[in-house]
Amino acid sequence: MTASGRAAGPGSPHGLPGPTDDAPEEDPRREVEEVLRRWTARRCEEARSLDVAFHGQPVTALVDLALRGGRRNRAAFLWWGWRAAKGAPRGPAATDALRTAAALELLQTCALIHDDVMDDSALRRGRPSLHTAFARRHRRDGLRGDPDGYGRAVAVLAGDLALAWADDLFAESLPDGAVRHAAQRVWRVTRTEMVAGQFLDLRAQAAGGASPAAALRVARLKSALYTVERPLHLGAVLGGADAGLVAALRAAGRRAGLAFQLRDDLLDLFGDPERTGKPTGGDVREGKPTYPVALALARAEAAGDERALTVLRESSGDRSPTGEGPARVRDVLTGLGVPAAVEERIARLSGSARRILSEACDDPLVARRLEALVRETAEGAGGAERG
Ligand code: IPE
Ligand code: MG
Ligand code: MG
Ligand code: MG
Repeated sequence: MTASGRAAGPGSPHGLPGPTDDAPEEDPRREVEEVLRRWTARRCEEARSLDVAFHGQPVTALVDLALRGGRRNRAAFLWWGWRAAKGAPRGPAATDALRTAAALELLQTCALIHDDVMDDSALRRGRPSLHTAFARRHRRDGLRGDPDGYGRAVAVLAGDLALAWADDLFAESLPDGAVRHAAQRVWRVTRTEMVAGQFLDLRAQAAGGASPAAALRVARLKSALYTVERPLHLGAVLGGADAGLVAALRAAGRRAGLAFQLRDDLLDLFGDPERTGKPTGGDVREGKPTYPVALALARAEAAGDERALTVLRESSGDRSPTGEGPARVRDVLTGLGVPAAVEERIARLSGSARRILSEACDDPLVARRLEALVRETAEGAGGAERG
């Protein structure tokens, strides 16, 4: 079984459908994993020569997370954006495109490590999150001071290193000339958008609520952009796409990326940790005004439904060990028709993204692969781990 609890099919490390018959050799997810494995092995050697504990602890933990599980969606979107722009499927330029895709996976490693600290989340890809693992290690080794503070501090460092490595790998994989500058611009905004989104997520949580429109904006910035729109954008720019194709891929990515985060928000409420590899109900316990919760609040207010409002307000941020908060919120959301409304929105976004892609991509193979990828990420086919 994979970390997300899905049975891995033959030849498929993710349990995902393998390459189709029309392109048996083209499996960017597997190839990106190989790039990551080789590149991080060299960084590990350097770290070991610096210090054995540094290598054996934070560096090994970050590399384990980068290589373990994950669906490599961002890498796959970059690759198919590259192919949509007529980038070659093989050869030195294709290898460089795969390396930039691996850089996105390291950016994702940083995002996950830091996100779990920010969200006080104990599980990631089916195992203890990095800060949780180091807090346990602190206790086990009988070290001095606050174990939780120590765990978080080590996670800050490991996330920083993952981000630095992402930048290094990205920079060393770019071609010279105009494409380099264009790709650098996209990379720069990608990182900043994600950090801005994470900040707005924390701020909405601290403020104790958000309108549905504000919740959608956070979802877009913290996730939709760096998960789908920007990877497609990067691939297209690297492949030398014209402005029309770039715009179409971005428009599709914007919709599919938002659908992905709405699916993630629904899974936080209704998902199975065996499949997602992360805890259920964390957003309620943290008091995150995600889109489903913001929509529920807006609907309950409009209907003057005081009982629903009380449950939503009382459960938000309720960390009591009985764990009843998420179950009560689930009931209220269902009563207000929120899951069905969010599903409908996801289906609309995903359908619209797939239509744009099928019109924009000349190569039918590329169109099919991109449409399948959108379906997987948006509709949660096969687990919907934040891969
Ligand atoms: C986090 O959003 C987005 C980033 C990692 C940048 P979430 O907090 O909803 O992600 P999960 O649900 O913990 O994976
Ligand atoms: Mg989180
Ligand atoms: Mg978060
Ligand atoms: Mg989430």
